[in-house]
Amino acid sequence: MMSPPSLADDRDSASLPSEAAILDALPDAVLVVDADDRIRFVNSGAEDFFQASSTTLVRYRLTDLVHSSSPLREAVTQVRAAGGVVTKYAVNVGTPRTGGERPVDLQATSVSDNPSFVVVMLLARSMAHKIDRQLTHRGAARSVSGMASMLAHEIKNPLAGIRGAAQLLEPALGSDDRALTRLICSETDRIRDLVDQMEVFSDERPPERKPVNIHVVLAHVKSLVEAGLSHPVTIREEYDPSLPPLLGNRDQLIQIFVNLVKNAVEAIEATGQAGEITLSTAFRPGMKLSVSSSSDRISLPLEVCVHDTGSGIPEDVRPHIFDPFVTTKSGGRGLGLALVAKIVQDHGGVVESFPRDRGTTFRILLPVLRNPIEIPETEAVS
Ligand SMILES: Nc1ncnc2c1ncn2[C@@H]1O[C@H](COP(=O)(O)OP(=O)(O)OP(=O)(O)O)[C@@H](O)[C@H]1O
Ligand SMILES: [Mg+2]
Repeated sequence: MMSPPSLADDRDSASLPSEAAILDALPDAVLVVDADDRIRFVNSGAEDFFQASSTTLVRYRLTDLVHSSSPLREAVTQVRAAGGVVTKYAVNVGTPRTGGERPVDLQATSVSDNPSFVVVMLLARSMAHKIDRQLTHRGAARSVSGMASMLAHEIKNPLAGIRGAAQLLEPALGSDDRALTRLICSETDRIRDLVDQMEVFSDERPPERKPVNIHVVLAHVKSLVEAGLSHPVTIREEYDPSLPPLLGNRDQLIQIFVNLVKNAVEAIEATGQAGEITLSTAFRPGMKLSVSSSSDRISLPLEVCVHDTGSGIPEDVRPHIFDPFVTTKSGGRGLGLALVAKIVQDHGGVVESFPRDRGTTFRILLPVLRNPIEIPETEAVS
């Protein structure tokens, strides 16, 4: 791995052009700030973003460029105080010079061989969009939740009545007509199953939570899915053994990953070729999330990814995949990812999807158990 270039150091001027050219090739804005808040380097993405040339920008201090409560200044201060990486999603950054603020995802980190330098990257708003969409999914999940309770009350009871009446009729009928009563029974069962699935959304009670080792959950999901495989799919595991436990509901976490891995298998099947699913975990202690709707910054250091080499998500459905009833499959209900979004949200986490060269990655970020010492013995890691 390349060591971070000392971009603002005159002594390195001989090697600077190629490093600068590399950074200029990035579409996103990169700037380097020194211990006195002076801007020491900007790439061309940052020139575009702040609408000023690099010769102008390197004469500024951060305090001249952005206002005092800007998330950019906040992130730089936080990195200086605590180190690591500070990530802020969907925050507005702009300069009073041009007036316009733009929603971006922001990442700030210190340079390893000179921690007084902070590198800031402002990423285009794709992630910002995703987080906004997540908040919309929550709205969608809530509206489904209202509908689900209504369905449960208004449909299930009469349905049981219809089914019971068909069964009562059956003995008095000839064999041709019995086929019809059986049809009534099987179709009412199908509606009942659908309503049962929907009822999960109406359950607003917080799930019972215990410390959970996510690797145990993933191993269980792997064996469950492997047992039902009819297509050549290899499931690989790349786990970070230092991962701390999380406080969660084991059954619901299993539901999340069964849905994601099933979708991954179906996406591979759609290619008609053999494929691979990778389950990976990582501990990212610097991962902080701040969303525009709240001033709180939440720490979501536990990362679980499900990557597949499948067909990829069709571009037109990509923005809607977490909404209920969105499906591209003939027998699909479009409830899998809506359920994933609800459970992840109930666990205080975030789920997002990324297209890959080949296939798709779903990434879930979750909070960890704050103080594992407080775990009662009866709730030992399962
Ligand atoms: N790993 C993936 N690769 C490609 N497309 C995917 C993937 N995961 C989800 N999708 C797309 O998102 C849609 C919604 O997924 P979701 O799991 O919510 O519903 P579904 O799989 O169609 O039906 P079900 O209710 O049976 O899960 C899918 O129909 C598919 O188009
Ligand atoms: Mg599904």
